[in-house]
Amino acid sequence: MGGDEPLTALRALAPPGLSCAGGAIPVDIVLPYAIEARAVTDARDKRRREFAAGRFYARQAMAALGVPPQPVAVLPSRAPAWPEGVVGSLAHTDAWCFAAVGRSDEFLGVGLDAEVAAPLSDEVAALVCSADERRALSADLIAWAFAAKEAFYKLYHPRVARFLEFSDVRVQIDVPRQRFQASLRPDLPAFEGCHVFPGRITTAGGLVLALMTWPAA
Ligand SMILES: CC(C)(COP(=O)(O)OP(=O)(O)OC[C@H]1O[C@@H](n2cnc3c(N)ncnc32)[C@H](O)[C@@H]1OP(=O)(O)O)[C@@H](O)C(=O)NCCC(=O)NCCS
Repeated sequence: MGGDEPLTALRALAPPGLSCAGGAIPVDIVLPYAIEARAVTDARDKRRREFAAGRFYARQAMAALGVPPQPVAVLPSRAPAWPEGVVGSLAHTDAWCFAAVGRSDEFLGVGLDAEVAAPLSDEVAALVCSADERRALSADLIAWAFAAKEAFYKLYHPRVARFLEFSDVRVQIDVPRQRFQASLRPDLPAFEGCHVFPGRITTAGGLVLALMTWPAA
């Protein structure tokens, strides 16, 4: 596992205008803004490092869009409080962290997730995927479905403010085309009038990376 492979793969999934940054979670990383530091005052070192890495890579991704360095605070929902004019998503694993950021006049929302590309335990697989989904997906692809559902949640929740169970979303994955489709239970609140959403997904450097974007009207 290593190098720039996951970031290169993530960038290859991203539509024009979406800026992606990321890499290993640095061991010694500081939070330069008090509002960010306060959010993890009581957290353990590992959590502080992953949170700080998210803000570090978020600022890198924003800089590539010409957005000056500034804090990315935390909303009560735990979603990032993106600066005015910016929308994005953050994801981390134990070792890696990624940010995907766009301008809000181009994107209404972004959902990003990264997971270790390893089969899930039977117990977790049964939590994440329905029996139908598990029949359709190989053991490896259940971890992909996990990433896809988490990416969907990060796209959906900031706008709709509705908690979702894994069973509320059905995922179909087209591995060769690096695409997936997330279908929301039809009786749940729509996102921008839709219940079916396209996403991109791939594997690189031992990770699964799932990315969803929704264009601004
Ligand atoms: C938000 C959630 C999806 C994050 O997933 P995770 O695999 O635990 O952690 P990740 O590293 O991938 O992502 C964490 C980041 O997600 C972002 N996030 C947290 N809550 C969020 C929300 N409500 N909306 C959008 N993004 C959110 C944050 O940036 C967070 O990192 P930070 O706290 O360092 O800023 C998960 O914690 C959660 O709340 N799940 C409940 C809902 C769910 O999973 N339903 C089933 C899927 S449909």
